[in-house]
Amino acid sequence: MKKEKNQLSLNKNDLIKYWDNYYADNKSNKENSSFADYCLPLIKNNSRLLELGCGNARDTYFFAKNGIHVIAFDISKIVIEKNIENTPIDLKSKIKFVNKDFTLLTPDDSKSYVSTIYSRFTLHAILKNKIHKVFNFCHKVLLDGGLFLIETRSIKDPLFSSGKGERIDENTFQYENGHIRHFIEKKDLVKNLSEAGFIIEKVVESNNLSIVGDDNPVLLRVVARKK
Ligand SMILES: C[S@@+](CC[C@H](N)C(=O)[O-])C[C@H]1O[C@@H](n2cnc3c(N)ncnc32)[C@H](O)[C@@H]1O
Repeated sequence: MKKEKNQLSLNKNDLIKYWDNYYADNKSNKENSSFADYCLPLIKNNSRLLELGCGNARDTYFFAKNGIHVIAFDISKIVIEKNIENTPIDLKSKIKFVNKDFTLLTPDDSKSYVSTIYSRFTLHAILKNKIHKVFNFCHKVLLDGGLFLIETRSIKDPLFSSGKGERIDENTFQYENGHIRHFIEKKDLVKNLSEAGFIIEKVVESNNLSIVGDDNPVLLRVVARKK
């Protein structure tokens, strides 16, 4: 039997290097995600949104164009620098990009309360032992009635049982170059959100939500509201 790596021994620099390389070639998809389309009608115009792991800012720009003020965090310095450089002039006053690990955020990083927190394809990028801390932070900085919107890979995703990667933790695999995927179990997600003080308004677990080339993942989409 393979020995599980100690989670604490995971090298953060490898993870950052993976994402820096991923965005260095400029080939990432620039169109906003279908999840952003799904979320937009739920978000109040002129409100403040905090984005966990913005990547190349395709959804950040989309929300800002639609009248939402965004603070967007990402662990990759390269992508944050590119995003700042590429921000259209008319959106500059609506967006603040911050190069920071979102598992280390504190209420000071948000400055004031926000109406929405948005996490697309970033919950499965962190280890299980960080989830509680992130959810507690989200609950703390959201206004009462605020929304936590999540799209993440489920354990029903074919990649989960594909045999690819090295198992390093429960439901978690590490691939070449340090990339990790922590596939999320619906019951755990619902339980963790409820324990952090969220009401679950909607949970969808399905494929055909975000098809990219041969990848048609089974995803969890969640709309959770702060009690
Ligand atoms: C699969 S991409 C998704 C990007 C974007 N949300 C989208 O849907 O296009 C995951 C992003 O999360 C970022 N990320 C991963 N772990 C992070 C962490 N702990 N803190 C901040 N950003 C992180 C990566 O750098 C990467 O940009």
